[in-house]
Amino acid sequence: MSTETTPAYSPGLAGVIAGETQICSVDPNAGLTYRGYDIHEMAEQASFEEVSYLLLNGELPNLKNLAEFTRQIAAERELPAQVVKMLRLMPRSAHPMDMLRTGVSMLGVFDPELNDNSHAANVRKSIRLIARVSTLITDGWRILHSEEPLPERPDLTQAGNFFYKLKGEIPQAWQIRMLDTIFILYADHEFNASTFAARVAASTLADLYAAVTAACGTLKGPLHGGANEESMKMLGEIKTSDRAESWLKEKLASKEKIMGFGHRVYKKGDSRVPVMREIGRDLGKRTGKEQWIPICEKLEETMEREKHLCANVDLYAAPVLTMLGFPAALNTPIFAASRVAGWCAHVVEQHDHNRLIRPRSLYTGPPARPYHGVSANGAASKKR
Ligand SMILES: CC(C)(COP(=O)(O)OP(=O)(O)OC[C@H]1O[C@@H](n2cnc3c(N)ncnc32)[C@H](O)[C@@H]1OP(=O)(O)O)[C@@H](O)C(=O)NCCC(=O)NCCS
Repeated sequence: MSTETTPAYSPGLAGVIAGETQICSVDPNAGLTYRGYDIHEMAEQASFEEVSYLLLNGELPNLKNLAEFTRQIAAERELPAQVVKMLRLMPRSAHPMDMLRTGVSMLGVFDPELNDNSHAANVRKSIRLIARVSTLITDGWRILHSEEPLPERPDLTQAGNFFYKLKGEIPQAWQIRMLDTIFILYADHEFNASTFAARVAASTLADLYAAVTAACGTLKGPLHGGANEESMKMLGEIKTSDRAESWLKEKLASKEKIMGFGHRVYKKGDSRVPVMREIGRDLGKRTGKEQWIPICEKLEETMEREKHLCANVDLYAAPVLTMLGFPAALNTPIFAASRVAGWCAHVVEQHDHNRLIRPRSLYTGPPARPYHGVSANGAASKKR
């Protein structure tokens, strides 16, 4: 008889502490810190480059370090020609998240430090990947739409360059600031599904690119990053705030999942929602597209009353990205352009303090039974 005790089981690993991290902390009561710094302060004052440096290195940069880090990222944006060629081979029907995942995987083999998992090499590779994920998205999108990729603008920040590379125009300072804030809000979220996938891959001592490829694949799902694309489809279907309540009640009556609502950890509100909602209100006024935020607010109010469920960041990110002029199919890739900083920081941390992540499962299949197979070597044939 086995003396092994059965470990506790939590479906979906809900509430399970699956590892230690010094990178990010999510407080179920609507709090979020990066390396101890409140996300609200960061969103208001920091830049995406500063946040990326903090996540990767553990401390805020001084002015000189920040300038050097920003320069390094800007200098690493260009894709190898073979990767651009691969993007051109994609069918027009390809989803940008699939192009991105394939691109990240391919970038790995062109990185001379691919198989060096030392701390220093991992940080260098992270800088390259943070820079190039954005390029995969912007170049991929232009190629899908029969437009040539544009040359990099090293004088622009990640947020500014992202706009430029997509549309060919340098955006206004307020637009860059808004995208920078969105990048900051999305940059990390402790053991969310894609980061956990990255850490599982890294825990086998697979390389950073393998881990981020796994993360990209995981982010695509509508229960995770894909929700910000689905939320925009939903808002487009509702169209006006006066239709929001009846639309929602109908969906709830038919037991449908409502995108942009609910969260595994936050049960009293998502820490990032107030900032994203505020950006949305500001953008509504600036762009004259004031219909979206009232729909979200009506949905929030109804969802709270009907199901006691809170909105998550993706509900508001969807109209915010639309009002900034991005197509909805880029909502999840834009999330990835930011979260890559968190993914990389977690891979560095995993490799620095590694232990294989390998949980157990609760077996619910048939009990042990004798084998009577029909194959040549099977027990049944031996009996004959
Ligand atoms: C994020 C999510 C996967 C979390 O799932 P979870 O932790 O397993 O959800 P919970 O255990 O808190 O769910 C509690 C109840 O609320 C329901 N619920 C949760 N989110 C819901 C949603 N968005 N719409 C409708 N019902 C929802 C669940 O079905 C469950 O109902 P039940 O008790 O009748 O079975 C889930 O909320 C969801 O699918 N949200 C929509 C997708 C989304 O916006 N994802 C982005 C997350 S940042």
